Amino acid sequence: MNMTVGAKGKAAREKLEAMTPKSRELHERSGDLLPVEVVPTFEMPTPLSIHSAEGAHVTDVDGNEYIDLTMGAGPHVLGHRPKMVEDAMHEQLGKAWHLVLKNDRQLELAELIREAVPAAERTVFCNSGTEATMYGMRVARAFTGKEKVAVFDGCYHGAHDYALIKADPGSPRSAPTGTVWGSGVPSTIRDDTMVVLPYDDPAAFDLIRKHRDELAVVLVQPVQNSVPRDDVGQFLKELAEVCKECGVLTLLDEVVTGFRLAWGGGCEYFGIEGDLMTFGKALAGGMPVGALSGRAEVMAPLGKPWGDPDGVFLGGTFSGNPLTMAAGVAALTHMRDNKDTIYPYLNEQGDRLAKRVNAFCEERQMGAQLMNAGSILYMHFKRGIETSRDLADENHDAEREFYVHLMAKGVIVPGIHLFFLSTAHTPEDVDAVADAFCASLQDVREDGLI
Ligand SMILES: Cc1ncc(COP(=O)(O)O)c(C=O)c1O
Repeated sequence: MNMTVGAKGKAAREKLEAMTPKSRELHERSGDLLPVEVVPTFEMPTPLSIHSAEGAHVTDVDGNEYIDLTMGAGPHVLGHRPKMVEDAMHEQLGKAWHLVLKNDRQLELAELIREAVPAAERTVFCNSGTEATMYGMRVARAFTGKEKVAVFDGCYHGAHDYALIKADPGSPRSAPTGTVWGSGVPSTIRDDTMVVLPYDDPAAFDLIRKHRDELAVVLVQPVQNSVPRDDVGQFLKELAEVCKECGVLTLLDEVVTGFRLAWGGGCEYFGIEGDLMTFGKALAGGMPVGALSGRAEVMAPLGKPWGDPDGVFLGGTFSGNPLTMAAGVAALTHMRDNKDTIYPYLNEQGDRLAKRVNAFCEERQMGAQLMNAGSILYMHFKRGIETSRDLADENHDAEREFYVHLMAKGVIVPGIHLFFLSTAHTPEDVDAVADAFCASLQDVREDGLI
């Protein structure tokens, strides 16, 4: 790869190399044995192995402490290892942690979800957001008797085959065609079952009307991961109306936004409701989890007896296990009881960080922009971004160097560059993050890259 690295970039790399010998050693040992050490989108600019985490901080195997903005890819709304969750898990460990038999904690967690999101009249648990959206599509097909599923350009719904159809970047913005993400996904899925819609664009409504007789469901993230915006409420409301008019279900994928944007997630934040909702991440206080919830009528195919041809098949050895459920009950109970302080705090800190970094960029006319919807943030190396279609010609040299500097200054943002704040990030932590962002941007400028 032909990389443009200046004197500042070289110095930051040297500093990181001196700081992280054990991380490097582990990375070299992993070699061929672990072709994927972490999900590739979460690779760091240079090898890093974390040993422990607490609150807003992580410590690597060499003993360096960092402010973590990964927050486990979103679940840690309350920071790493919040005491009430850790205590609940210790208590549950002394009872049972995996059964597959019914357990008393599932009901408590489902009741908490319904309290947060009244449309969640029925819930089934699984182990990841990926499983939740997969089941959501299946239930929608079973309920409507229609086979096609629509997804929006720029939304992410997990790693199963049906979630890996995205817009072909060469296709027209308002009439995107689908392309398969990566190798190994059958093209028949793209051709026979999926419709791709343009985000925040009324042309999407015409496409839904056109495909109304074959479309079972439209999936949408209330906030897109790579373009987090908090001004899409009107679009989401219109989307729900058009779907209703066409007899097409809406599935709100709240895997990121659920219990993060507000106690009631994107539904509460934007004043919307889905026929189906998917949850994950923050739902279980950092334990692996997914959930599909929805209106009772739509979820009915899930309640059929085993073997009923109208029933929807679910699997999952570890689904609804009591250890995960106990962690979720502790986390959600705390979030519910403190929602009036937690969510205003998270959203205010996200706005404050974005405002400071964006003011710095504007004053110096730097081509970069920190986008946020509350505590969901994404730094772009281009200005004026509205949808994922605007991301094509970002300044990737500046982007790559920025994250090297940021890591050398003790702030962790992984390769995906989507990051999160938590209640464990104090205003002082957020100030330190803003300082590190501004200083890293300045380093990139001094190397002539922005
Ligand atoms: C909106 C959304 N849906 C689904 C998923 C998949 O969740 P998981 O990684 O738990 O499978 C993700 C993961 O980031 C996501 O952001």
